[in-house]
Amino acid sequence: MVVEFIARWFHVLFGIVWIGMLYYFNFVQTEYFKEAEADAKADAMKKLAPRALWWFRWGAMFTFLTGLYLLYAVGAHSSLMSQPIIWIGAAAGILMFLNVWLIIWPKQQIVLGMKEGDGPASAAKAGLASRTNTLFSGPMLFGMIGNKHLYIADISNTAVYACLALIAALELNALFGKTGPMTSVVGVIHCSIGLVAVIWGILAFL
Ligand code: HEM
Repeated sequence: MVVEFIARWFHVLFGIVWIGMLYYFNFVQTEYFKEAEADAKADAMKKLAPRALWWFRWGAMFTFLTGLYLLYAVGAHSSLMSQPIIWIGAAAGILMFLNVWLIIWPKQQIVLGMKEGDGPASAAKAGLASRTNTLFSGPMLFGMIGNKHLYIADISNTAVYACLALIAALELNALFGKTGPMTSVVGVIHCSIGLVAVIWGILAFL
């Protein structure tokens, strides 16, 4: 139990590191880069962004690893199938982790000139994945804390599958689609809160 508590504490701490950096990129750094002087931008791309990306991707890694341990530990107390809300959070969290390591980090290395490749195309791919992670952050946290702290009577399997399908469809958009209403900062915040409301509604009423 003490081990599980320590894992939880680290899990949330690493989660703060990761999502804090995600919000910094989406709400602060990209907006700043749009209006920065060329010299300042070049300096920040060389010396600031790589540091932020280091905390970002390793925060994601350790959040994920402690999250897997918690899935195992929570599953050991009672069936995970009887705790459907964690699946919504874990699905969003795992996709977010994969987006960081398989899309954002490789594409950002090209954008920052650490690797060869098509800069503008990579920036667009990384940006869409990053916006999608910001979108998922609301539902992810809903799932993380809702599992133990929100009671919804008789969640149906159909409702859980519908939520997972919705998350999968949005991930497909991250791979092949467009930022659409998530393009602006205000837009992605509204979309994230709206997605939480939709998921909550599906779980409660479907
Ligand atoms: C990367 C994939 C992730 C997985 C697989 C995962 C898994 C889990 C699991 C299994 C739990 C325990 C749920 C319970 O006891 O009912 C949990 C709790 C939690 N997670 Fe995650 N998680 C992930 C990402 C994140 C992220 C990015 C954050 C952001 C801060 C986060 C924050 C939390 C919080 C706040 C709790 C609640 C702790 C509590 O109430 O005791 N998780 N997570």
